[in-house]
Amino acid sequence: MQNRVLGQKLHVSAIGLGCMGMSEFYGPTSDLESIRVIQRALDFGVNFLDTADMYGNGHNERLIARAVQGRRESVILATKFGNMRGERGEFLGVNGKPEYVRKACDESLKRLGIEVIDLYYQHRVDPGTPIEETIGALSELVKAGKIRYLGLSEASAKTLRAAHRIHPVTALQSEFSLWTREVEEDILPTCRELGIGFVAYSPLGRGMLAGRFQDNESLSESDWRRNHPRFQTGNFEKNLELVKNLHEMAKKKGVKPSQIALAWVLAQGEDIVPIPGTKQIPYLEENLESLQVALATDELEFLNQVFRPGVTAGERYHPQGMKTLDR
Ligand SMILES: NC(=O)c1ccc[n+]([C@@H]2O[C@H](COP(=O)([O-])OP(=O)(O)OC[C@H]3O[C@@H](n4cnc5c(N)ncnc54)[C@H](OP(=O)(O)O)[C@@H]3O)[C@@H](O)[C@H]2O)c1
Repeated sequence: MQNRVLGQKLHVSAIGLGCMGMSEFYGPTSDLESIRVIQRALDFGVNFLDTADMYGNGHNERLIARAVQGRRESVILATKFGNMRGERGEFLGVNGKPEYVRKACDESLKRLGIEVIDLYYQHRVDPGTPIEETIGALSELVKAGKIRYLGLSEASAKTLRAAHRIHPVTALQSEFSLWTREVEEDILPTCRELGIGFVAYSPLGRGMLAGRFQDNESLSESDWRRNHPRFQTGNFEKNLELVKNLHEMAKKKGVKPSQIALAWVLAQGEDIVPIPGTKQIPYLEENLESLQVALATDELEFLNQVFRPGVTAGERYHPQGMKTLDR
């Protein structure tokens, strides 16, 4: 397995594993199969697992605890705090207050069954709490030995700078893929200037770029994407037209559309680590094989042109979700 290096020289596998869908959002789940996927990933040398306290309202962290039992030392465990949910899973807002950060960390440690979290991200920036206060609390957790490195998710360039002044930020985790390229403008350059690694979430466009879905109806009843703007009838068809280009390129190269999508993300810089999510071993294997897929300059240029920023139909979250993004 190839490695990549995030900020503060944190070495992780060049592709991580996103575990969110193993608990909710993307249709039916099976704990046993998910544990097999995680363990298979570890067997392949993937050491970077991504979760959050809100995924399945704690379920995802508990699932990971079961999957890594006995292998904790070979894993870089990344989790997140800040999106509060009620007992029935309802979204209660974003919280970055120091006392909340401390409480959330203790609860994640307990669910994960570990002594220290390797990489602890603020999931969404809390507009009601100065970032300096949140980062101050995180830096105390580093001193207390409860977390090793800290990160932010969906933070603006301005917030990154303010945070990095208080304590070195190891990684920014934000959406980045062929169909979501906004970070190229000022966020990626800021990460590079400050030496902050970039973790690309939803690198397969939540599955759309893998070319597997044909229409909104092909998503199961419980699938959160049914209400996602980019998967709405109307937008869906337009986005599918874009994905046809991936099918064609993949066919010519004898690979899968998903592998073209991941190879493109991997080609955007050695400081970028995609964390594709899957609940299925064949997809995991396919995704790891994308490390062997080389895209020529003219192929990269073609993809950059077809998937130029702004071309995707639909916003990347519903209006309430868009409001939680720091801009
Ligand atoms: N920081 C944040 O706010 C944030 C937001 C979203 C996600 N994330 C993190 O990023 C991770 C990855 O993002 P994501 O799961 O949203 O999206 P993604 O990785 O872009 O796509 C996941 C979807 O693609 C499917 N898939 C994966 N590999 C495939 C393949 N080779 N061929 C066909 N289909 C394939 C999966 O299917 P199956 O599920 O059926 O395997 C799933 O439906 C998450 O697990 C989570 O840890 C973070």
